[in-house]
Amino acid sequence: MKNRRKTLPLLIVMSMVFCMLSACAQSTSSAEESGYTIDNIRDYVVGLDTEMELGNGGKKAVTNFDNAATTPALKPVMDEVNTQMEKYGSIGRGFSPKSDYSTDLYNNTRDKILEFVGADPETYTVFYVSNTTDGLNKLASALIEKKSDVVLTTRIEHHSNDLPWREAGTVIYAEVDDQGRVMYDEIEKQLKNNKVKYVSVTAASNVTGYVTDVHRIAKLAHKYGAKIIVDGAQIVAHRKFSMLGESKDENIDFFVFSAHKMYAPYGGGAVVGLTDELMSHMPKFYGGGTIHIVGDEWVEYAEAPKSYEAGSPNYPGVISLGKAIDILQEVGFDDIEKHEKALNQRLVDGLKKIDNSIIYGDSEDLSDRVGVITFNFSDVNSHLVAEELSNRYGIATRRGAFCANPYVWRLYGLSDEEVRNFAECSDVNTPGMIRVSFGIYNTEEEVDYLLKVLPEAIKQAKKTNEENFGLANPLY
Ligand SMILES: Cc1ncc(COP(=O)(O)O)c(C=O)c1O
Repeated sequence: MKNRRKTLPLLIVMSMVFCMLSACAQSTSSAEESGYTIDNIRDYVVGLDTEMELGNGGKKAVTNFDNAATTPALKPVMDEVNTQMEKYGSIGRGFSPKSDYSTDLYNNTRDKILEFVGADPETYTVFYVSNTTDGLNKLASALIEKKSDVVLTTRIEHHSNDLPWREAGTVIYAEVDDQGRVMYDEIEKQLKNNKVKYVSVTAASNVTGYVTDVHRIAKLAHKYGAKIIVDGAQIVAHRKFSMLGESKDENIDFFVFSAHKMYAPYGGGAVVGLTDELMSHMPKFYGGGTIHIVGDEWVEYAEAPKSYEAGSPNYPGVISLGKAIDILQEVGFDDIEKHEKALNQRLVDGLKKIDNSIIYGDSEDLSDRVGVITFNFSDVNSHLVAEELSNRYGIATRRGAFCANPYVWRLYGLSDEEVRNFAECSDVNTPGMIRVSFGIYNTEEEVDYLLKVLPEAIKQAKKTNEENFGLANPLY
């Protein structure tokens, strides 16, 4: 009895300690399992510590500020692709458990994409593409029926949302304002004065990062009997995007995006479009996968999405895209936006302190920009500065006119005629800008590193110019 009285409190204390320890162990594992956040996502980005040989012969891990071009892979995205490869079989063609499994996963990812962009499965269909360029070309080849079909786009666009329309139909443009923003009244003016069939606009610019109110443009397009196509290449990994507007007339009709800009570089991408429109057209890509039955002289084509997916599907592209969607949603677009805005502000504030800096677009109000800042220094050639940043400091930027030439020339203040003079020039002799574009994993320390080394890079670039190019008036 004596002993029992002594051992009981001891047992209670022991069980309390045990409970505390197991609670502690549980909270550790739930922290581990709590998933991806803006604060821990850097741990899951592939290759950030991989040392590369620099142009100056040194070795360094690359500071990547070229995320608008393409984003690095996420480890869980790669893991998912590898895992699913265990059960990989032919999509939609074979008779086997692996074929059935792969086909289901391939098709179920369409539902995930629809949900991701707020599109109702009753109204919209997803077809897979290799990237935004492929998607826009397929839409152009399907939707444009004759050369006189008018497509209205803007002067802010990437070439991929301009040239396919130029080639297929007749393109007219809405101008940008002095700060490089899309002018909504110009869009309405063009819609009023022309019989526009499609309006095709980007949701976010790859040059200035401006986010355009595409729902406002949808309302205008629909008012004048046109349909709207949105190039989503630069929005999907940066902002929550819904194809639904506040009212039905604000809904987006087609949305196109690439997976490699959302941490899934396996050659995937998607178009989400109005089922009725897709069903009543077909792109000029034919072959296996697109048909129902073929006779000697006749073909019965399948319905969308099959009719838009000629050839064997890119399964890793689709799997990786689905996983990337899960992760981005888990990280959360509110946090992504907040993070990017802080990086934008830090970079712009720092650039303004460097002599002769020029920041393109509105550098006072950054509220409508994704993580893209484009700049120059008026006394030094930007090609040489970008080269110094890469060769000496391992900083990846992009320099040039970013596949959005007409927009860049406008920001630069060059006329079409003036630009023609550069047609035969080498890169270093052609005007261009330096672009920093952020991913979800970039840090303030990385921005500070860039700002710290920029003055030295500028000095070195000037020296290179004197020694090798002798450009008396270096074009920036
Ligand atoms: C706004 C915009 N549209 C379209 C594209 C083309 O994307 P992709 O090269 O993935 O086809 C890009 C690529 O940078 C872009 O930034």
